[in-house]
Amino acid sequence: MLESVAGRLAKINQSHVLAFLPSLAAAQRDALLSQLDGMDLESLPELVKSYVLSKPVLALPADLQPARYFALDGTVKGGGEPARSAGGSHTWDREAARAAGESLIRRGKVAAFVVAGGQGSRLGFEGPKGCYPAGAVTNKPLFAMFAEAIKATGKKYGVSVPWYVMTSPLNHEQTVSFFRQHNSFGLDPTSIMFFQQGVMPSLDMATGKMLMSSKHEVATNPDGHGGSVRALHVSGALADMQRRGVEQLSYFQVDNPLVRVIDPVFIGLHVGAGVKGEGYGGSSGEMSSKMVAKAGPDEKVGVFCLANGKTEVIEYSDMPKDLSQKMDAQGNGGGLAFNAGSIAIHVMSVEFLQRLATNPAFALPCHRAEKKIPCIDAAGNAVTPTANNGVKLEKFIFDALAMCKQSIVMETDRNEEFAPIKNATGVDSVESSKALQTARAARWLEAAGVKVPRNVDGSVDCVLEISAMTALEASELGGLKVEIAPGARVVL
Ligand code: UD1
Repeated sequence: MLESVAGRLAKINQSHVLAFLPSLAAAQRDALLSQLDGMDLESLPELVKSYVLSKPVLALPADLQPARYFALDGTVKGGGEPARSAGGSHTWDREAARAAGESLIRRGKVAAFVVAGGQGSRLGFEGPKGCYPAGAVTNKPLFAMFAEAIKATGKKYGVSVPWYVMTSPLNHEQTVSFFRQHNSFGLDPTSIMFFQQGVMPSLDMATGKMLMSSKHEVATNPDGHGGSVRALHVSGALADMQRRGVEQLSYFQVDNPLVRVIDPVFIGLHVGAGVKGEGYGGSSGEMSSKMVAKAGPDEKVGVFCLANGKTEVIEYSDMPKDLSQKMDAQGNGGGLAFNAGSIAIHVMSVEFLQRLATNPAFALPCHRAEKKIPCIDAAGNAVTPTANNGVKLEKFIFDALAMCKQSIVMETDRNEEFAPIKNATGVDSVESSKALQTARAARWLEAAGVKVPRNVDGSVDCVLEISAMTALEASELGGLKVEIAPGARVVL
């Protein structure tokens, strides 16, 4: 193997990674060679040229406009010819969408899919993010909350809902053993499939050379949630879905305890049910997305846009300030013109994923992130950088939207479905998430006729947590008899 790896490295001018080879023990030498052997070294020069030695400038399409979306009020809003030419008069039927989605779930055609391979570096939590204690009262880990939603959905519709969990080499073993320790959170372990996403070498920001994390290992990073398309295929997860008769995957991120893990309305709309109005042309049933109205111009969420007739996401870091601040007098009720914030929830068909993954020409674009990457220097000494020294390349799943024939976006209420835990403190922290969980639970309880103690300013004067096993949505709480004292901590 040495000869072939050394030859391949020489061709791409990256032979430095073998510098310590003569000093390594046999096992370390084998580990390094097999790591390198498994890498797509041949594509590196082009990536280094395009993403490391030059900073790619995102060329925004000239015809960029706000995405069209199925709004909460039952109308179709945003940009795009069909909705505009009809004066925004298109409508959609939530109950028809729900019926179609429920039928698919009941027939075992829907599975859950969480992407949990990320590094969670902003949170500063040692371990897989899904293990993070997130429940407002119980401190239940995120994985447990999703498991309850999956179990409750299965119970409601009389099926076993398969769950695909994407990890990365950084957290795979820990994730699997966490599930084992917790008896798969009461789910049938044969309905859960773990698989690992791929990695990319982390690259020196100044030279594009591969960084070494030790003398016998190249520093790598997970290849982004866009890596899931390939990973779903090579791991056999797509084949497993086909064996089980699963047709649609409900995709979500590991950081949002309020996510509606399997949403019948969204799934139904995604497969084309409930769309009214000639010429609108709803979804192709390949990949759809959920949006919330942005909290403000600077909220760190991707934005759904329309370009060349296709829905796409412009990531927050790529969105020019003038566009994120632009106001719209008509389409979005006078709010931000580009107001369709992505909460990274999608439904994707198994057929679509299979088509992408088996197409030799399929490739999602890379995105560049500058990071502080611990490594060793040329003398083999450990370096702990204080400034960004490296580039990580990642692929984003939402770039696959451009590969759909037609993709739809559905609006949801951020207070119902979005309480992400991304930072240790402040915005999008566990503290803000727990407050949002309590606020949602309070609304659900009040709608069910329960008195919830509130302070004079209207804020909730207690801490509340409703398990998905108790209710998946507000309407399932009816008939509840419970007394809540001011300051109480209540789990339902
Ligand atoms: C993400 C979205 C953003 C969206 C926001 C909503 C990206 C690039 N951006 O931002 O458009 O508005 O969420 O909350 O996703 N992950 C993997 N493997 C990887 C990298 C990430 O599984 O290699 C998973 C993480 O575990 C996590 C999710 O992807 O579940 C999001 O990753 P993160 O990098 O934290 O994205 P955000 O910046 O929060």
